[in-house]
Amino acid sequence: MAGAGRSLIVGASGQVGRQFLEAMGERAVATSREAREGWLQLDLAALSEVGQAAAVLDGQEFEAIYCVGGMTHVDGCEAAPELAWRTNGVGPGVLAEYARRRGVPYVFFSTEYVFDGAAEDPGPYAEESRTNPLSVYGKSKLEGERRVMAAHPGALVLRTTVVYGPDAKRMNYVCALIRNLRGGVTMRVPEDQVSTPTYNRDLIPAALGLVAAGATGVFHVSGPEVLGRLEFARRVAAELGLDGGLLEGVSTTELGQAAARPLAAGLGTEKLRRMYPELKMRGVAESIADCRAELLG
Ligand SMILES: NC(=O)c1ccc[n+]([C@@H]2O[C@H](COP(=O)([O-])OP(=O)(O)OC[C@H]3O[C@@H](n4cnc5c(N)ncnc54)[C@H](OP(=O)(O)O)[C@@H]3O)[C@@H](O)[C@H]2O)c1
Repeated sequence: MAGAGRSLIVGASGQVGRQFLEAMGERAVATSREAREGWLQLDLAALSEVGQAAAVLDGQEFEAIYCVGGMTHVDGCEAAPELAWRTNGVGPGVLAEYARRRGVPYVFFSTEYVFDGAAEDPGPYAEESRTNPLSVYGKSKLEGERRVMAAHPGALVLRTTVVYGPDAKRMNYVCALIRNLRGGVTMRVPEDQVSTPTYNRDLIPAALGLVAAGATGVFHVSGPEVLGRLEFARRVAAELGLDGGLLEGVSTTELGQAAARPLAAGLGTEKLRRMYPELKMRGVAESIADCRAELLG
């Protein structure tokens, strides 16, 4: 059968992409912007029409496309809005059009940052809650959602947030926390950002299961606990036996970041649980227990 259970993972070198590769093994067809042996080379920012996707992907066998790649550096997007728009907005839409023409499911990873986290309209948000992104990153991802759904009405948009767990590049928040606390370095953590931290490994069965169930449209896929960033950091530190005393709670304003962050946010996952009741999204204690050795190794 064409595809033989294989899936295209766009942006496979990132923390979520690596989890797809680990879970799917030989059934994953990986892409990167860079030339890598055995991988396809695909740059979302370079896609403006479907023929460019076809030039790379025609003749490759896969039964679904998972677009996890993106310009994920939230503050970096403020400095390069045009690149963010192409990478997170235009390119994913073009790829969705290609998936529709191939007749395969398409999954686009989006973000809680499409919401504003305003005190008068706080999260955890439902899928149909009003969007109002505060940053270039959030705006570009929302544009991606719109373009994807317009190009491929059977597509899935999975919004997630504060993704943590094993990360080969050791770039995610928990990896930074481990580096700091092990090095005896004080870490300033915003105490006014509330979210629903998500174990990266749990995103894979969620995505695969929703595709297998034929789900379409927007789903929130996120962890079960609503936590302030400081509380999250303290719990991770405690689970890993690190010195939480080095965590210093500050306001988001004090951090002086380029991009505005949603404060009272988080993603509600009732729709996911209704659609897929047997799926387990793990909280901090269970997640860290699952990957402690990898994180500290
Ligand atoms: N991490 C979070 O907390 C979080 C929260 C909410 C939503 N998300 C979303 O979840 C998805 C996965 O996040 P992640 O944590 O795995 O991100 P990540 O670790 O930063 O990885 C993103 C990957 O995207 C690829 N990429 C960057 N620019 C690209 C381009 N122009 N074309 C194709 N690929 C490109 C990069 O791979 P190459 O350099 O090899 O091309 C990179 O490895 C993203 O779409 C992100 O927006 C993440």
